[in-house]
Amino acid sequence: MSSDTAEKKPSVSADEGSLFSTVRNLWAYMWPANRPDLRLRVMLAVGALLLSKVATTLIPFAYKGIIDSLDGSAPNGALVLGLAVPIVLVIAYVLGNVIDAGLQQLRDVLFASVGQHAVRKLALQTFHHLHRLSLRFHLARRTGGLSRVIERGTKGIETVVRFAMLNIAPTIVEFVITAVIFVWMFGISYLGVLVVMIWGYLYFTIKASNWRISIRRDMNNSDTDANGKAIDSLLNYETVKYFANEKMEAERYDQSMAGYERSAIRIWTSLGFLNFGQAVIFYTGFLIIAIMSILGVMDGTLTLGDFVLLNTFLMQIYRPLNFIGFVYRELRQGLTDIEEMFKLLDQAPEVQDKSDARPLAVTGPVIRFDNVTFHYDPERPILKGVSFEVPAGKTVAIVGPTGAGKSTISRLLYRFYDVSTGSITIDGQDLRDVTQESLRSAIGMVPQDTVLFNDTIGYNIEYGRPGASAEDVRAAAAMAQVGPFIETLPKGYETPVGERGLKLSGGEKQRVAIARTILKAPSILILDEATSALDTKTERDIQSALDVVSRNRTTVVIAHRLSTVVNADEILVLRDGVVAERGHHTALLAHDGLYAQMWNRQREATEAEEKLLQTANDPDGFVKRGLPAAE
Ligand SMILES: Nc1ncnc2c1ncn2[C@@H]1O[C@H](COP(=O)(O)OP(=O)(O)OP(=O)(O)O)[C@@H](O)[C@H]1O
Ligand SMILES: [Mg+2]
Repeated sequence: MSSDTAEKKPSVSADEGSLFSTVRNLWAYMWPANRPDLRLRVMLAVGALLLSKVATTLIPFAYKGIIDSLDGSAPNGALVLGLAVPIVLVIAYVLGNVIDAGLQQLRDVLFASVGQHAVRKLALQTFHHLHRLSLRFHLARRTGGLSRVIERGTKGIETVVRFAMLNIAPTIVEFVITAVIFVWMFGISYLGVLVVMIWGYLYFTIKASNWRISIRRDMNNSDTDANGKAIDSLLNYETVKYFANEKMEAERYDQSMAGYERSAIRIWTSLGFLNFGQAVIFYTGFLIIAIMSILGVMDGTLTLGDFVLLNTFLMQIYRPLNFIGFVYRELRQGLTDIEEMFKLLDQAPEVQDKSDARPLAVTGPVIRFDNVTFHYDPERPILKGVSFEVPAGKTVAIVGPTGAGKSTISRLLYRFYDVSTGSITIDGQDLRDVTQESLRSAIGMVPQDTVLFNDTIGYNIEYGRPGASAEDVRAAAAMAQVGPFIETLPKGYETPVGERGLKLSGGEKQRVAIARTILKAPSILILDEATSALDTKTERDIQSALDVVSRNRTTVVIAHRLSTVVNADEILVLRDGVVAERGHHTALLAHDGLYAQMWNRQREATEAEEKLLQTANDPDGFVKRGLPAAE
């Protein structure tokens, strides 16, 4: 894993290019096309913001007026007027500040819905996209890390949308207004100092922030890594216990967290450096302007009020300046967080619908594999030219040693992967030409390893056909021989099944999976070791149920236990990626090849098992009750 992260790091590009493209990607969310109400809010928010900037610019003038009117140089005769003016000005000053505060809050309130809209839309888009990404991606992903990427990404979006819209542009407006006032009131030399100071400030901020980005990335990587490890470890709770490896797990987690700790500390240290540097640059500029204005007051070109005005303007500029530093920092940080999410969004699904893909039209359905080759990794071919046909309504069984590629065939039929060469067709339509959705809704699958949603049994069965009536759910459960078991549960169909369904035994889970497929009532059925976790008696019962279910359906049965496939219309023996033998049960036995060998071996084993059962003479033994030891 560590080599994995080490490989990824250099490809993470920082920089202005990706920043630009991220902002461009985000633009659609800040200025949503089909939401005039949100656009109106954006405009109102910006309006509130500009007004508040006007208010802020006027405030120092009120302040200057107060000082000048209180200045001893005013003629004594005008005392009454002299008192009225500063009071009016103070009121103006206070009003200016209150209006400013009000407008700022109004802006935030107006903008909240725009920001949240962006967050929701992008989160949903990411969710959709994750489901579009292919099985290959999902087998390689680390759930914990992935969830962190999304979490950080959506948070980052809010930051970016808010700051980009609400701070950068208005602050620039404020700078311009201040600059004009400086030139107009005090002359070009003051402006010169101001401009140099602001330029130095921004230059330093941008440079330092860019440098901090790499630290932020390290921090994110450690965060993703730590969360991935934590979730993986918790998902494997039982395995950890089997091997009493809690200590090792904790150490692995702690190592990732140590990396996080290191980068988090560096983030804070560098922030301190950044803040301090900003203050030094600002106060240097402040010092120069203050000295210049003191000299001005001395030689009479400036009044005392002018001196205060200058200082107030400078302090007033310090706020947005500081803020723009902060905003830039947050923006970069947010963009770094979003970047990972956008990378995820940019990942093209391996299996995609063609632009002219049509829904699968099922008539038969007849399944045809035509000289199919397939590999997960190019170095290791799994299927090397497999051809067979499942006629409409018939059952074809696929047997063969473990790892022969039986489940792979079912994954290809579901189009989790595309074939390397050759083709798979259903009723003459190549799987690559039809929509994945229509294909998958035509097929029902009872997989080899059933995983259930962490919800109730009822929910999991109903999942086969969301919205199915309670009677239908019950009927499907009865058919899958799981009904009586559910009735014995205190909470019945409302019983929670636990994470991944682990509160049920393997056999119960498998029957729930069968029930939900029965409920789906697909025209094509794939049973991948559908009864492997069941004891012989239940298996026989379910087998008869499955026979009923598959009677008029085109069915592919994958099985280890050959006794379950003797009635199949054709049996394919898959070995080393090719169909080694094919035919009906009796013909294959007569052929005396691989199938006959497997058959004899299994029969011996079954006979031995039955003998054992008879001698054990235990009518309520665990084998008969069908409760295999839980995983
Ligand atoms: N996602 C994958 N990436 C790489 N190799 C894979 C992947 N999935 C399966 N394989 C490999 O492909 C081969 C065939 O796997 P498959 O699951 O089709 O076997 P199977 O015939 O169903 O075996 P079993 O009877 O044990 O279920 C195996 O050797 C397996 O290691
Ligand atoms: Mg398999």
